[in-house]
Amino acid sequence: MAWSACPAYIVTMTVSAKPVTPVAGQGAGTPTVWVDGKWCDRASATISVYDHGLLYGDGVFEGVRVYGGKIFRLSEHLERLYDSAKAIWLTIPMDRQEMTAITEEGVRRSGITEAYVRHIVTRGVGDLGLDPRKCAKPSVLIIVDTIKLWPEQVYEAGLSVITAGTPIPHRESLSPRVKSLNYLAHILAKIEGIHAGADEVLMLDSAGAVAEGSGQNVFVAKNGRLKTPPPYAGILKGVTRDVVMDLAAKAGYHVEESVLNRYDVYTADEAFLTGTATELVAIRQLDGRIIGSGKAGPITRDLRARFQALVRS
Ligand SMILES: Cc1ncc(COP(=O)(O)O)c(C=O)c1O
Repeated sequence: MAWSACPAYIVTMTVSAKPVTPVAGQGAGTPTVWVDGKWCDRASATISVYDHGLLYGDGVFEGVRVYGGKIFRLSEHLERLYDSAKAIWLTIPMDRQEMTAITEEGVRRSGITEAYVRHIVTRGVGDLGLDPRKCAKPSVLIIVDTIKLWPEQVYEAGLSVITAGTPIPHRESLSPRVKSLNYLAHILAKIEGIHAGADEVLMLDSAGAVAEGSGQNVFVAKNGRLKTPPPYAGILKGVTRDVVMDLAAKAGYHVEESVLNRYDVYTADEAFLTGTATELVAIRQLDGRIIGSGKAGPITRDLRARFQALVRS
């Protein structure tokens, strides 16, 4: 892969395999991992090579943020985790209360106050065949660590985005509403963006409608009205998306779910992405077309400020 074409910060991030050293302001602490009943550190957290999560991407996951030691929207994330598992015939071997308690304990043990939590449930250890009946018990992993997708200047300037040639999977195949361990289409799209020197990608559905980013939902603002694609289009129904729709409605903006074409993004006054890891970040250009003023516009800045206030409230 021609990494030399990438912006320097992407190369730095991809080669870094060192344990995370908490940065001042990110909450000191140590990455902490629950592996099927055992608390581990980063080095000792290992799973079997016969786990079907690894062999086939057979499993589901969640990503949750912790702000100032408080877990943000855990119950919404766990609802989606259990729904994703149900959709793929996977029975999580603990109830939501227990999952909540273990997550809270992991955050406490880690001592990381500005954390990112990754829940992973795999089909478990089987043999080399596909048959999930060979997997005696699903595995549950909970990683408490930190995350930062782009350097600060990218958040300030807004993202340069290209449309990826790789569409999201068809909703009646592996529906993107299932947050499954198979993210290959989204990763291929991300690599297309990296090769093009872009910060992020816009993915379309197989009919060409605007779907989502590689790990974000998308919003546009035109004449003071906000629009975002509907979940029935087959996108992941983002927890951050729902929070931002709610914040926007409470702030008096008109918000609607609507099928969007790239034209709607090119000609928007503002466009932005939302996601747990991403939070809320402006798109400054798409496919070489400058969006609005070419930087975060007033609605994006207002909603970002409201979002930052909410997560710390
Ligand atoms: C494909 C995809 N779309 C959208 C999102 C945003 O969802 P959320 O706000 O729940 O993180 C994510 C992130 O998890 C994602 O992976």
